[in-house]
Amino acid sequence: MNLNFDEIKKEIFLLRNLINNSLKKYLHYKKELPAIIIKAMRYSVLAGGKRLRPLLSLFTAKLLGLKLNKVLPFACAIEMIHTYSLIHDDLPAMDNDDLRRGKLTSHKKFGEAIAILTGDALLNYAFEIMLKNTLKEKKYYKNYIKAIYDIASAAGINGMISGQVFDILNENKIISKKDLNFLHLHKTAALIRASITSVAEIAKVNYKIKSFLKIFGEKIGLAFQIMDDILDETGDEKKIGKKVKKDRKKGKSTYPALYGISKSKEIANNLILEAKKYLSKIKGNKKGLSYIADYIVNRIK
Ligand code: IPE
Ligand code: IPE
Ligand code: MG
Ligand code: MG
Ligand code: MG
Repeated sequence: MNLNFDEIKKEIFLLRNLINNSLKKYLHYKKELPAIIIKAMRYSVLAGGKRLRPLLSLFTAKLLGLKLNKVLPFACAIEMIHTYSLIHDDLPAMDNDDLRRGKLTSHKKFGEAIAILTGDALLNYAFEIMLKNTLKEKKYYKNYIKAIYDIASAAGINGMISGQVFDILNENKIISKKDLNFLHLHKTAALIRASITSVAEIAKVNYKIKSFLKIFGEKIGLAFQIMDDILDETGDEKKIGKKVKKDRKKGKSTYPALYGISKSKEIANNLILEAKKYLSKIKGNKKGLSYIADYIVNRIK
């Protein structure tokens, strides 16, 4: 595939602006609500972040010929779920981190009680936004419900939560390759995959295309967490916006711990190659998804 990088970079810049403006609109202050909760939600969501998951949703919409405004509320909801997971992941009872997206973590800034409630608020607000848009849809609301179901299972015990539980249970242990894959597929790949497959639900694509997108999403999602583990060892705190070399101290089960850095990189690169094979089976504009797949293993933050 011929990728014009300047063109795609410009497109990503514009899509990120669209996502950020939409997130800002959802997170407006309301005089009847305690200002602190909106302030804390805005603090973490609007702090930046790569917006990888909403970008995947919007590029999937482009591939499947959907209007971006049909998908944007779902893309923002997924980013809110992701941000909630980061706030809770950083808490003292979990990874105990004090830097996130280049700023103090939520609990360091607002205290633990507000940080926990901010995570709860973002998770619930995400579903409020998705359901509100579903209720507006007269004809195809069932597909929207399927998309919400997909996102709910990826975020909950069938996805991220079980991954996070497994991550905590396996600190200071040497686990098998199979268990490490379970961990990464659940804690990270599930939501990344759902950023793509939920859009496939909205677009009502056939089973075959849905399953190709599912495999693509899982493979890039797994590669994403492997790179996160690698960057924890090799990355630059200023660029990443979070403390580095923390996984080893915490005895986390990671790819570098099991395979070393260079083998981990090789595994991540191969996953991207395999993912793109599945993407190539689908007709349409795949440039964005293909670019993001490569970006996942080439990124420095
Ligand atoms: C970090 O996610 C947590 C993981 C699931 C590895 P990102 O690296 O996507 O974080 P942001 O959104 O860019 O801050
Ligand atoms: C977190 O994985 C995955 C989540 C579901 C939040 P990590 O604990 O490795 O993420 P970072 O490195 O703190 O961003
Ligand atoms: Mg963690
Ligand atoms: Mg962490
Ligand atoms: Mg990490």
